[in-house]
Amino acid sequence: MNLNSYIRGVGSHLPARVLTNEQLSQTVDTSDEWIRERTGINQRYIAAEGQNTSDLGYGAALDALANAKMDVSEIDLIVVATSTPDLTFPSTATIIQEKLGLRTGAAFDIQAVCSGFVYALSVADAMIKNGSAENVLVIGAETFSRILDWNDRTTCVLFGDGAGALILSTTPAKNKNAGRGVLNTFIRSNGQHKELLYVDGGPSATQTVGKLRMQGNQVFRHAVKELADSMKECAGKAGYEINDIEWFVPHQANQRILEAVAKRLDLRRAQVVSTVAFHANTSAASIPLALDVAIKDGRIKRGHKVMLEAFGGGFTWGAALLEY
Ligand code: ACO
Repeated sequence: MNLNSYIRGVGSHLPARVLTNEQLSQTVDTSDEWIRERTGINQRYIAAEGQNTSDLGYGAALDALANAKMDVSEIDLIVVATSTPDLTFPSTATIIQEKLGLRTGAAFDIQAVCSGFVYALSVADAMIKNGSAENVLVIGAETFSRILDWNDRTTCVLFGDGAGALILSTTPAKNKNAGRGVLNTFIRSNGQHKELLYVDGGPSATQTVGKLRMQGNQVFRHAVKELADSMKECAGKAGYEINDIEWFVPHQANQRILEAVAKRLDLRRAQVVSTVAFHANTSAASIPLALDVAIKDGRIKRGHKVMLEAFGGGFTWGAALLEY
């Protein structure tokens, strides 16, 4: 039997506190103008003290369940993409499972930094298609504010906190126009450039959490090339060309990366969903947050083809083609 994995619902959850560029420039040697010009970011959300990645992921999960009109008891797998887990273990996925009151099914985390959501979607899709799961909560949730060096202006201005979720299901949404779901996924990694983007701590190496370190201009160069190539390959293997696709929902790293990739693929600006101005870079949460915005504001409609793409630490990168 051929099983499909349909997108049943989407959701998101953001912390209440907004930190604008203007506010940030009162404590960091930067300016609103510099941040907006170089990155397109105007503001970011910052989790409150005691508000953890699992709290944001739980909020996004509830929102996605409501959007899909599903009861939590129908969920048999939770996959959480995060690089900022609540604890070293247990996984943030099992913490969210407990918050949801679920005692059945399975839950685990995936660690692929900013590409985490594409990786998580790829695994969830494969598990549905091989019959291992029926209704999967795929969550991207991060509190990057906790691993930023707030004295390093080259990195701390770029990131924010948040969570997004999507429910993949073997059962199509009730909407009769629902598309065919995940058409193809494509994931890749190359550990050669670890020093360009990493966190300088961890349980085994330093017994500390560590802070994010990045050589931004180098990351930029690699990201643009790999992203354009992976979208072409992902579409091609599913039998499509880039110009068959209505919407592009990229990882929201930087408006200039989004534009450079769009230029390489000859995309129209209006086809590329951008939320970087108000979410900043929320790592694994950025794609589901942007997807949630563009579905709920009515841009992405049932039957539209949507390409997701991401690049992050590792390096890791990938793309996923959906028919919503
Ligand atoms: N405010 C003011 N000045 C700054 C700031 C800041 N926040 N940060 C750096 N500068 C200064 C630098 O010190 C440098 O000054 P100098 O010329 O006197 O030495 C100058 O601005 C230019 O610095 P660059 O690093 O060359 O600036 P660049 O144009 O490359 O922009 C940026 C930096 C925004 C980080 C860019 O390289 C970028 O976006 N790279 C991609 C990084 C990224 O998005 N990574 C995430 C992808 S993977 C993931 O999501 C984890």
